[in-house]
Amino acid sequence: MSAEKAMISIKLPGIRKLYSGKVRDIYKVDQEHLLIVSSDRVSAFDHVFPEGIPGKGIILNRISNLWFRNIKFIKNHLVETNFSNFPKPFSDYPEFLRDRSVIVKRTERIDFECIARGYIIGTGWKDYEATGSVCGIKLPAGLRMADKLPLPLFTPATKEDSGHDMNVPMEVMRKGLGDATADHLGDITLRIYEHARDVLDAAGIILADTKFEFGFVDNEVILIDEILTPDSSRFWDKALYMPGSSPVSYDKQFIRDYLETTKWDKNSPPPPLPEEIVEKTREKYLEIMRKIEGVLAPR
Ligand SMILES: Nc1ncnc2c1ncn2[C@@H]1O[C@H](COP(=O)(O)OP(=O)(O)OP(=O)(O)O)[C@@H](O)[C@H]1O
Ligand SMILES: [Mg+2]
Repeated sequence: MSAEKAMISIKLPGIRKLYSGKVRDIYKVDQEHLLIVSSDRVSAFDHVFPEGIPGKGIILNRISNLWFRNIKFIKNHLVETNFSNFPKPFSDYPEFLRDRSVIVKRTERIDFECIARGYIIGTGWKDYEATGSVCGIKLPAGLRMADKLPLPLFTPATKEDSGHDMNVPMEVMRKGLGDATADHLGDITLRIYEHARDVLDAAGIILADTKFEFGFVDNEVILIDEILTPDSSRFWDKALYMPGSSPVSYDKQFIRDYLETTKWDKNSPPPPLPEEIVEKTREKYLEIMRKIEGVLAPR
């Protein structure tokens, strides 16, 4: 993978973009299918930075696809991962699409993020410090930052069109989706978390927490979006793990930690990322990709 320029914007002349997310761009293939392109954009605290991480989209796409192939106990949205099989007009744009895009089933997205937490960090830690609970779930007193939780927790969050996604109690999700669907999503989320946690443990990685999205196709819930990537998960190095401090991580926690040292208020346009932070983040993404390949696609 070349260390050249980051691919910040995807331009496919004449093809209408349905949606441009923080990281991915979505195109319509036909009534039932979407094309998802992972750019090299990077976001933290819900802000996208002007600098990208070169090759990040390719790395994320590869990691997510490996997991989708590995997890067989729930259906997922993947239809075609090989660019050589993409239909026209998409096959005309290898420079933008190869190795960083997938064709997926278009679903009716469920507007909740399904988060599994095995350790207490991030917004979970902030909740706990303020209230002793996470998403309304009471936790034992005296936990330290990054401590392992007695049991993994399912904590839903609403997907907000603008601004920050919001952690909510399970009751809110039950009201929104009905008990059966909400409970099903909670069960599946924890099942995938536990599976991935155990796989990664063998590679010396702690899966601290992770986020999934689901959608309906013909009344059936399937797994969509990206899964178990450094953008949707916190991966920690088991050898360096020490509760009480922010663990050394393979994901953009590195960027988050850098931002915490600046004066940025997280509401105004973000400051530029220094070249050194971009390069170090890129190395982290590459390192975690190699480790995941080591357990999911050993050579
Ligand atoms: N199979 C699918 N069917 C419908 N929507 C999907 C599917 N897979 C992913 N998506 C949606 O495509 C978008 C992917 O783009 P990206 O992750 O960059 O968005 P985002 O900035 O995280 O925005 P959002 O807050 O909407 O998730 C997300 O909105 C995600 O929910
Ligand atoms: Mg997203």
